[in-house]
Amino acid sequence: MKIVVVGTGYVGLVTGACLAEVGTEVVCIDVNQEKISNLKKGILPIYEPGLEDIVIRNYKKGRLHFSTDLADCIRGAQIAFIAVGTPPGEDGSADLKYVLQVADTIGKYMTDYLVVVTKSTVPVGTAAKVDACIAKALRERGEDLEFDVASNPEFLKEGAAVEDFLKPDRIVIGVESERARTLLQQMYNPFLLNGHPILFMDVPSAEMTKYAANAMLATKISFMNDIANLCELVGADVNLVRQGIGSDPRIGNRFIYPGIGYGGSCFPKDVKALIKTGEKKGYNLRILNAVEEVNEDQKKVLINKIKTYFNGDLKDKVFAMWGLSFKPKTDDMREAPSLVIIDMLLEEGAKVQAYDPVAIHEAKHMIGDKITFAEDAESATKDADALLLITEWPEFRLPDWTEIKENMKGRVIFDGRNIYTADEMIDNGFEYFGIGRYAEGLRKKYGEKVTVIR
Ligand code: UDX
Repeated sequence: MKIVVVGTGYVGLVTGACLAEVGTEVVCIDVNQEKISNLKKGILPIYEPGLEDIVIRNYKKGRLHFSTDLADCIRGAQIAFIAVGTPPGEDGSADLKYVLQVADTIGKYMTDYLVVVTKSTVPVGTAAKVDACIAKALRERGEDLEFDVASNPEFLKEGAAVEDFLKPDRIVIGVESERARTLLQQMYNPFLLNGHPILFMDVPSAEMTKYAANAMLATKISFMNDIANLCELVGADVNLVRQGIGSDPRIGNRFIYPGIGYGGSCFPKDVKALIKTGEKKGYNLRILNAVEEVNEDQKKVLINKIKTYFNGDLKDKVFAMWGLSFKPKTDDMREAPSLVIIDMLLEEGAKVQAYDPVAIHEAKHMIGDKITFAEDAESATKDADALLLITEWPEFRLPDWTEIKENMKGRVIFDGRNIYTADEMIDNGFEYFGIGRYAEGLRKKYGEKVTVIR
């Protein structure tokens, strides 16, 4: 089986590498020459645990190939994945320019029966557009080759992408021909040894599934952030409330962690795109509008606490920032809450000293020299008035607090991910502010050591 994967971003590269890992012949295509020559040298455009090893091993074995020439590589292929970017257009809806360019090239150069699979997150109706585009290109060539278009949304999480691809919860495929269905089933069989299902459905339902999944997950987070903010006002601790509700299997204990808002390449973009789809159809997705609004506000929650704590004066204050990426185990800075927080701190005249285990390179690229970057977590705290925990990397969990106290000028921690407890921080000699935790309760216990801020 020869498979072509177009686009070497997160989804494309992981798909290509993991398909090669089970023995399939795969060519990964990208228009970016530099990316392709780097991949051939084993240099990956992203950090993703386990991916480098799979890419290098399968490239050496000759099962995984890299090329910029789609027109040439599509010859003789049986399956072609389209995994190119769908950036938000000016109005927030997904821009399909790249997807349709790929479809056009496929139509111009395909030589045999082909299943074209859309893997990028694309609005309902895109597979039909891809179908029309390929059919048009074939007509213009005067060819009558058979092909099918399928929709196979990807649910992988950054930081666990390889694991998610190799052992998926489920595989969703929208497909309307028996021939394509059989071929795709055959291709995915090696990934289903864990007994998890492959769900075949019609194409629009598969396209919608991806948006509904991301929108539901984003809703869980915004809901919990709203509840966390209310917890503070009524003197409750959202950590306990989270455990209390998560024990109900109908609710479940996953993905209900409050914090400083969701970021990344998927949730913000997909929530906006789904709202747009609704608008285009004359339907107002009221819940998702609120989900987005809560998320935007949540990115500022920490700043509001910081300003209150320092009586509104952040001028020349030094902030140590632990974590920059939008979540741990990735260097992805897209829509990272850290960016909003840094901007607001700088606007107030503050200084930021940041450290992240892998995202510094990416962060420098986006932020430049407006802040300083530290070599390690400890040195980021040098002379800091406050420490901000922004991304919950495991290495931040048990630092040497004595050393950090010696380094810092101030004695306060703002924990945007609730990875510490107020008790342990107060024991270590710090004032502590998390998200949705009950300051009044601590005041009763610890007295003046605790400032109550709203
Ligand atoms: C997400 C989906 O999980 C994945 O299925 C889809 O394919 C792409 O989008 P990803 O963006 O990699 O994956 O990250 P995820 O782990 O889902 O986290 C998204 C954001 O939500 C992060 O900013 C994270 O910090 C935040 N989050 C997550 C919370 O604030 N609370 C939680 O309980 C879970």
